[in-house]
Amino acid sequence: MYIFLIQTLLILSLSVYQVGAAYIYRRQSPDLGSQCRPFYTTFPPTSVSRNTYSAPFVAISPAGSYQTTPGGLELYLNKPEGTIKTKQGANDKTSEGATVNSTFAIHYGKVTFEVSAPAIPGVVTAAILIADERDEIDVELLGGDPAHWQTNIFAPTRRDKEPLFGVFSSIERVPHPNPSIAKIHSYTIDWNKERIEWGIDGRTVRTLKKEESMKGGVLHYPSHPSRLQLGIWDASSPSGTSEWAKGPINWSDAPRSMKAVVRSVRVECPKY
Ligand SMILES: *[C@@H]1O[C@H](CO)[C@@H](O)[C@H](O)[C@H]1NC(C)=O
Ligand SMILES: *[C@@H]1O[C@H](CO)[C@@H](O)[C@H](O)[C@H]1NC(C)=O
Repeated sequence: MYIFLIQTLLILSLSVYQVGAAYIYRRQSPDLGSQCRPFYTTFPPTSVSRNTYSAPFVAISPAGSYQTTPGGLELYLNKPEGTIKTKQGANDKTSEGATVNSTFAIHYGKVTFEVSAPAIPGVVTAAILIADERDEIDVELLGGDPAHWQTNIFAPTRRDKEPLFGVFSSIERVPHPNPSIAKIHSYTIDWNKERIEWGIDGRTVRTLKKEESMKGGVLHYPSHPSRLQLGIWDASSPSGTSEWAKGPINWSDAPRSMKAVVRSVRVECPKY
């Protein structure tokens, strides 16, 4: 009797879960879960849409927060309305920058982003792979440290009490002849089952093997289908984030409107 009940409950919850998952897939991206298809864009007007999934990219942020231009996709961060007070290393208001998702996902592959980012302390420009399960493989450009760029991964497990912020992160140099994130550089994430390689301007600078993602006896290796996500954000709060981003943004000094430019995105597929 009990066993029967438990079985019934199990089957019920499983099918609800599956229906839920299928629904999410269809709503958010018909292609999520696909392996890898070669892709290249320089962001013509039809490449980004809002509220529909018919274009390769969908904007999560408001309509005016981004624009496709002949130079690429511009992502804006504007000064928040009203007076901004700074207390204990954080601003009391932050502004919502642009965020754009790809509507397709890759499950392993090599992604190259050509990006320039504002060199303003407290502003972060991010070109990442992100899964619905919250796995992330990141390239982060901190305006407060324009001579460097950061790489990181996240793959939350049930055992983690909080995200492992500093554990897998690393800081790399932006090479000559234009050693600043404010100039266009090409940043590469090359992801397969065994390892992740990050590169800049065609040179690999960091390799993270799957077994190196072990923490607390559990692997934290990104392994779920992931979308590409491009964004610019105001890291002026909370104070821990702001400290990491060398913020908060000093709005009496910073331009009222800043932009990151994504000139192109390329996806190459692994050959198995
Ligand atoms: C963007 O991607 C994230 C991570 O997979 C997902 O949680 C979010 O729902 C996506 N948003 C849209 C509008 O596609
Ligand atoms: C913010 O910028 C203004 C103008 O340059 C400057 O006077 C002020 O000291 C800066 N504030 C901080 C906290 O650095």
